[in-house]
Amino acid sequence: MSDKAILQVGDNSYEFPLIKGTENEIAINVKTLRTASQGIITIDPGFKNTGSCESAITFLDGEKGILRYRGYSIEELANKASFLEVAYALIFGDLPNKEQLDTFHSDIKSKSVVDEDVKKIIDAFPKNAHPMGILSSLTSALVAFNPSSVNVDSEEEMYRAIVKIMGKFPVLVAWAMRKIEGLPLNYGSNSLGYIENVMKMMFEKPNEEFEINPIIKSALDKLLILHADHEQNCSTSTVRVVGSSHAGLFASISAGISALWGPLHGGANQAVLEMLESIKADGGDTKKYMAKAKDKNDPFRLMGFGHRVYKNFDPRAKIIKEAADEVLNDLGINDPILDIARALEQEALSDPYFVERKLYPNVDFYSGIIYRAMGIPVEMFTVMFALGRLPGWIAQWKEMRLRKEPIGRPRQIYIGENYREFIPIGKR
Ligand code: ACO
Repeated sequence: MSDKAILQVGDNSYEFPLIKGTENEIAINVKTLRTASQGIITIDPGFKNTGSCESAITFLDGEKGILRYRGYSIEELANKASFLEVAYALIFGDLPNKEQLDTFHSDIKSKSVVDEDVKKIIDAFPKNAHPMGILSSLTSALVAFNPSSVNVDSEEEMYRAIVKIMGKFPVLVAWAMRKIEGLPLNYGSNSLGYIENVMKMMFEKPNEEFEINPIIKSALDKLLILHADHEQNCSTSTVRVVGSSHAGLFASISAGISALWGPLHGGANQAVLEMLESIKADGGDTKKYMAKAKDKNDPFRLMGFGHRVYKNFDPRAKIIKEAADEVLNDLGINDPILDIARALEQEALSDPYFVERKLYPNVDFYSGIIYRAMGIPVEMFTVMFALGRLPGWIAQWKEMRLRKEPIGRPRQIYIGENYREFIPIGKR
């Protein structure tokens, strides 16, 4: 195959080099198009065909259902690694040895105290505030409490910023939940593992001895690993674009949280559970909702189905489905919502509308069922997604800054009015 692409526009032709990735993915590098053609650009709404960067963090093949972080398969990581090991691999490139992991964890713990004044900000939120709103505001507030921007040329400063956000973010996640639950804010304990501490901070009651449930711990570890990175999705692209202006790490992550909140992205896990609940309340007629999803005059979509990249199956959905069965079984929970989810999945998998459009359950179709079994309120589901995605956002921000990528600034094709004369207000 030739190593160049030729674009013919009218009588002119332009030549572009191809870029080949380590998994043989091919891109046409159109970097010189606008200058060479004196103004022609490409347009691709939603960036369905546009790569924004070269990245060594996550590989996914949507057709084959492959997902790997730093070369390690998601199946192996979910079954054999801890979330903190995966976070380390995403951020620093390789799985850590025992000593590296211990140092990373103790550095994170040493930075996990959040300024007491942040509690005043939490006090000011109404009790019914959405925890994603609380989390994104508190993460922005961290910028104010930690104003120095990171000197990315200093490995030490970069590392300090990373362990700081890894330490403080779970505290904010837990406090967002405790606020809506009306529970006193706490700090957990540095004697615990990362996930155990997250659980203590979230679930500990002021009048009860706290005990770690190993089933919940292992399911939470797995869920966070499955959400830890997913290459250039909406929130990650947001983090990279915001960071490309040299805004700091915390500010970039706060923007990513807002992007994640939408129901077409991370907000889908909350939307799935609400959808399953309303189908149950409406008598459990899944066929009726399948028909609504297919009706182009009805805005209803089957939440938790479809994915921009996975057009075969989402490998994370497979792992999560098994985990949901396991957790509900082990905890002895019989959730009728799971039966509705299974029925919808079965119908969709054999329905021509879904089959032709390659719409399969995505990672969020089953995650809400597990979160609910763990006793996490539904509004917190997307917050849990953010907790899992944090290492991915950090890794992508770090890579973008170290590769010295230019500021993200797309072009446009203007389709508005041509020049018109200004008419004074009295004559309009
Ligand atoms: N229910 C019904 N129809 C759907 C669904 C769905 N969930 N998803 C896509 N379709 C249909 C569209 O109507 C469209 O049909 P058409 O070709 O007849 O017009 C076709 O399938 C293609 O859909 P697009 O929206 O063009 O696909 P896109 O790649 O832009 O969107 C997305 C992907 C946003 C995930 C979409 O499938 C969706 O809205 N799903 C529901 C929300 C959801 O679960 N989001 C979570 C994604 S995973 C994550 O962010 C972690």
